[in-house]
Amino acid sequence: MDSAFDVLVVGAGCAGMRAAIEAHDGGARVAVISKLHPTRSHSGAAEGGINAALGNTAEDSPATHAFDTVKGSDYLGDQDAIEIFTREAPGDIYQLEHWGALFSRNDEGRLAQRPFGAAGSPRTVYAADITGHVLIQVLFEQLQRRMADGLVVFEEYFAFRLVVEDGACTGVICWDLLNGGVELVSGRSLILATGGAGRLYRATTNAYACTGDGMAMALRAGLALKDMEFMQFHPTTMFPSGILITEGCRGEGGYLINKEGERFMQRYAPNALELASRDVVSRSETTEIEAGRGINGSVHLDLRHLGAEKILTRLPGSRELAMTYAGVDPIYAPIPVRPGAHYHMGGVQTDTWGLTEVEGLYAAGEVACVSVHGANRLGGNSLMETITFGRRSGEAAAEYARSGAARRGSAGEAARADAERWIGSLLENTVGERPWAIRDELGQSMLENFGVFRRAEKMEAQIGIVESLRERYERGVVVEDKGDVFNTDLTQALELGSMLDIAACMLEGGIARKESRGAHSRPYDYPSRDDENFLKHSITYWVDGAPQLSYKPVRMTKYQPQERKY
Ligand code: FUM
Repeated sequence: MDSAFDVLVVGAGCAGMRAAIEAHDGGARVAVISKLHPTRSHSGAAEGGINAALGNTAEDSPATHAFDTVKGSDYLGDQDAIEIFTREAPGDIYQLEHWGALFSRNDEGRLAQRPFGAAGSPRTVYAADITGHVLIQVLFEQLQRRMADGLVVFEEYFAFRLVVEDGACTGVICWDLLNGGVELVSGRSLILATGGAGRLYRATTNAYACTGDGMAMALRAGLALKDMEFMQFHPTTMFPSGILITEGCRGEGGYLINKEGERFMQRYAPNALELASRDVVSRSETTEIEAGRGINGSVHLDLRHLGAEKILTRLPGSRELAMTYAGVDPIYAPIPVRPGAHYHMGGVQTDTWGLTEVEGLYAAGEVACVSVHGANRLGGNSLMETITFGRRSGEAAAEYARSGAARRGSAGEAARADAERWIGSLLENTVGERPWAIRDELGQSMLENFGVFRRAEKMEAQIGIVESLRERYERGVVVEDKGDVFNTDLTQALELGSMLDIAACMLEGGIARKESRGAHSRPYDYPSRDDENFLKHSITYWVDGAPQLSYKPVRMTKYQPQERKY
């Protein structure tokens, strides 16, 4: 294939599309590579909104947004990145609006902003409760305009191996899902925007596509993953499906109640109540359920007092989801919810322009760890991160591609041939297990042993489980579909390999972090935050087939760690 581009963007969710638009506008010849059609990306599942200090509902400022984000991160977020993020977010929102994003409006005609968890001011801009869907459509329109001007989209291309030569990234190896075949796409720079890895858990809000491919590709190419022990559990995922019920429901005034009908958050976060940070609310729910005050393994999200009109205008998507998947109309009955894996705070280590340790290789969105979210992300900061850091990485990657430093590689064809041999042997193998059996065990055991609360002995056990699953995977898995067209049996086998490596990294970070911070909670042996020993990022490299852990200081500007109270 003649495919020498300036900038390759792998992934076509909000971060990938925003990056591609910026790189194209910066004069680069851009190709987007995505295992899904862009409008099917998981960003479209984001519901409640996107945070920027516009001050349209109450007084607000980037500094207040920064403080809330630092505090929400349990002081693990890098403060320079957070300050850039909160300062640039308002401009990025207006840019989206000018492109046609149909955000909801307040009575004065300004962009409406709703309260979200742990936010000092109502700052979450929204489009009812389908904000991600709206943003995906707007970005795709912008992408299409640029496709008429030379931007290329390889959709349904599954990227699985980076080409790195002499310390620089020069391309990526992909499986063509529609036609079959291993393809090389070359570029002077590459942006990973492949999203998260929620599918490591059986109970998750994440789409089937969220299998950590980008993190695993980077890890295998010798890059560091940062803060991998921090997986966020969203407090309101529908029981039992795991489908997201937006935090916007609580932002609009919804209550959480236990089986006694008690609004139990009064005991755990007397000021913020249901709008405490997500780690706090998820722990409170889990405590209620474990103490026998749950309802069949869930608690109830009660919206009835909001009234039909508010539910129909502000939360129509949540109502529809609840009716379809839980058989409950929230106008008349509460929705059963429980915590579910939602967002990975960890990811590929980058600087504030998305640059990784490898020349020409950038990352943005959930695959990256800038780190804005530290140990716990605030609701609404993720969509904003995709836009602000997507834009920044697109700008930086285009600039690098234009610079004299960027190179065309020569190792791509050899890497492609090697990958083709490997895929061929995977397809030929007839002895071993089916990948789904290993995947199901992984998802169930991660939920049991590395969930909201973490015990040392369960984490140790899970390290052993993941090691044995990896051995079983490496002994050989059987791909029954030998065909070329939409061979999801093959891609699921590849995804499983990524998930197993990512799980090993998460557990290594978790067992070594002997404290409780944000989403990493060890109430039985290390119940407190330990700033003296653990106010630091974990850094994981893959060395000799196993994760190798080290640490790195948090970048602080002006926010000194304090006790978090909500
Ligand atoms: O609850 C939600 O709408 C999710 C938002 C987020 O994760 O940022």
